[in-house]
Amino acid sequence: MKKFSIVIAGGGSTFTPGIVLMLLDNLDKFPIRQIKFYDNLEERQNHVASACEILLKERAPEINFVATTDPEAAFTDVDFVMAHIRVGLYAMREKDEKIPLKYGVVGQETCGPGGIAYGMRSIGGVLELVDYMEQYSPDAWMLNYSNPAAIVAEATRKLRPTSKIINICDMPVGIEERMAHSIGLSSRKEMVVRYYGLNHFGWWTDIRDKEGNDLMPQIKAHVKDHGYSLPEEIEESQHTDASWMHTFAKAKDVYALDPDTLPNTYLKYYFYPQDEVAHANPEFTRANEVMAGREQHVFSECDRIAEAGTAEETSLEVDEHASYIVDLARAIAYNTHERMLLIVPNEGAIVNFDETAMVEVPCVVGSNGPEPLTQGKIPRFQKGLMEQQVAVEKLVVEAWEEKSYQKLYQALSLSRIVPNARIAKELLDDLIEANKDFWPELK
Ligand code: NAD
Ligand code: G6P
Ligand code: MN
Repeated sequence: MKKFSIVIAGGGSTFTPGIVLMLLDNLDKFPIRQIKFYDNLEERQNHVASACEILLKERAPEINFVATTDPEAAFTDVDFVMAHIRVGLYAMREKDEKIPLKYGVVGQETCGPGGIAYGMRSIGGVLELVDYMEQYSPDAWMLNYSNPAAIVAEATRKLRPTSKIINICDMPVGIEERMAHSIGLSSRKEMVVRYYGLNHFGWWTDIRDKEGNDLMPQIKAHVKDHGYSLPEEIEESQHTDASWMHTFAKAKDVYALDPDTLPNTYLKYYFYPQDEVAHANPEFTRANEVMAGREQHVFSECDRIAEAGTAEETSLEVDEHASYIVDLARAIAYNTHERMLLIVPNEGAIVNFDETAMVEVPCVVGSNGPEPLTQGKIPRFQKGLMEQQVAVEKLVVEAWEEKSYQKLYQALSLSRIVPNARIAKELLDDLIEANKDFWPELK
């Protein structure tokens, strides 16, 4: 059996140790001969790499481990690039969330002004990774989950049209796991779904078990009363903080808008922006929660491992939910034809929607990459929402490419979350100032 070589781009990510542990758990399904870490911030990556080196020596000494900030060393001789970078780090996520709140506007990592600002930072970083991959390992595939995935995906479609990059999001995976548990199934893998939308902006239209029995009525009955919240005795491995519990409960109100479908949790920001602002703490947003929680835990634990010289009793946990990344790599490596939700060029998958849009739909994945499954025509309600949102995403990419102030001003004004063009302009000028080290200079 061939053994694979992978590079994790964003080696210093809070998710890296959990993903490494997940890869080790799946070696029988996806054998690995080499794991490389690549980051552009040596100091940050070193904390994670020192711990993972010890962990790998103890648990899989046959795997060659490299941590580097040199693109050539990182991207040479790899089969897969697993990319999760955060251009601007948590310090900039904090600004993405807090600047809009000053104007009474939702402050969120991937939605509205925060997502637009983050998109303007991420595009260049992700394109750089694509270029390194094509230069040093032209046969490799990039599995990208760097955010904001919708904008990043549009940028790679438009600016690197032939590159082998697949953009993927874990939110549907997490929601499907909750749906499965809400009706007594043990795993989302017992369900076959139909879904359409943009990233962080979509709807399930059909969910069946492997025998073809319709599971939608049961799941809808749960969501109508509880959203995606689950009884306390059911423990999920991911998205467990109080703010996420609020999000899962809020899905009940989002569902009420269209009881024919089941919604992605992120739609709450577009339908109930005032509710979100009302319960936000402008001094302590999700970025602060994550810095004090996940980031603090991962880095202090990595440092403890490096100090102790052993990872035997580590509190770092296997990121089991991230095994969808292994499913995707396996689908390409072994031509498994697994059905997965991916972010791909529409090209008719949603019949009555812009063929050049990057949409999230079920795909059959084999060694040639994803083949989208047709989802048919979508109703006016979703179509109207998606037309507006995809225009925002496309305008951001055009603004980045053309360095256009005007187009970014239009993107912000068009976002459902921004109340009017005056606030859009004030926000834009604030965001330009905050992002001057990361955005192209706008004309
Ligand atoms: P993090 O800040 O802990 O890690 C990101 C790492 O990327 C940092 O070590 C940073 O130095 C590095 N980096 C930044 N710019 C880089 C560049 N140009 N080249 C190389 N490395 C660079 O962030 P995190 O919270 O662990 O999240 C990582 C990313 O994964 C984010 O974009 C996040 O939104 C995304 N994410 C996506 C999904 C999804 O569903 N698609 C799920 C979880 C996380
Ligand atoms: C979900 C989304 C990701 C996003 C993450 C944020 O998993 O799909 O795109 O990055 O949530 O989680 P956090 O814990 O960092 O707020
Ligand atoms: Mn996501």
